[in-house]
Amino acid sequence: MIKNRFILTLLSTISVFPGCKTLLRFLEKLWLAQFGNARGVFHHYYEVNAWGNEESVSGPGSTLQYTENIRRMIPQLINELGASVILDAPCGDYNWFGAIDWKTEITYLGGDIVEPLVERNRSSFGNTNRKFFYLDIVHDFLPKADLWLCRDCLIHLSNRDIMLALDNFLKSDIFYILTTTYPNCARNHNIPTGSFRILNLELPPFSLGSPIRVIDDWIEGFHFRQLALWERHTLLDNLASNRFFQRTANRHRAANPENGAGNTALDED
Ligand SMILES: C[S@@+](CC[C@H](N)C(=O)[O-])C[C@H]1O[C@@H](n2cnc3c(N)ncnc32)[C@H](O)[C@@H]1O
Repeated sequence: MIKNRFILTLLSTISVFPGCKTLLRFLEKLWLAQFGNARGVFHHYYEVNAWGNEESVSGPGSTLQYTENIRRMIPQLINELGASVILDAPCGDYNWFGAIDWKTEITYLGGDIVEPLVERNRSSFGNTNRKFFYLDIVHDFLPKADLWLCRDCLIHLSNRDIMLALDNFLKSDIFYILTTTYPNCARNHNIPTGSFRILNLELPPFSLGSPIRVIDDWIEGFHFRQLALWERHTLLDNLASNRFFQRTANRHRAANPENGAGNTALDED
């Protein structure tokens, strides 16, 4: 375990040297392959606390200090949207979300790919309005909710897995996605799932278009980033010309011929 942690740190440290990038990507792929799949990789990260933070196994971006702004802004946004059922996937260790001061009642659905973490959350924080369960956002059907909070996760997935997760959202019965994006990132690079890079979801190959709302999710010493909100119906229109999403967009159009762009999903209820 210590050996793996050392290799992980070494790979991310030397990756800043330009000439080493291709070789490093190859070595990283080999290293990640030992875990078999994404479930194995993130399970390992949990076991060794790979993101090396003492307060949260979900990493330095999940501390109370880091999340001060989003903990204040998310309840306001949820209130404005009239949303009450939130899917938080991945939920990580629920460190910061559990410290939100809610003014309205919400139903919380927390999903993560790491079973022991889900189990730990369930026994420490679970109740009738707060459920934790195993969920792979890339391959599993997403449960019905008003809003999907997908924070700090797509940055660890390959472009293809991100596309699959987004397609999952388009197929779901969820009105909004609130997810991490880095608006100053000029180009999206591909990585193997389990690695890390920053991402701008407005740029190819994702090209989600402009978000309808953003919340700064950043503190000094880190890359500037935001939580950005998109509406599923709008994305179904924006992404209809992208070959990857065409099938889902066409199926949706065939099932809902009366739905044009700009419908506010929550208004339809
Ligand atoms: C950096 S943590 C962020 C957790 C949480 N969103 C937060 O803001 O604290 C990334 C989390 O993504 C989870 N994860 C990675 N791939 C996943 C997948 N395909 N489905 C669900 N969870 C996944 C990991 O287990 C880990 O808990």
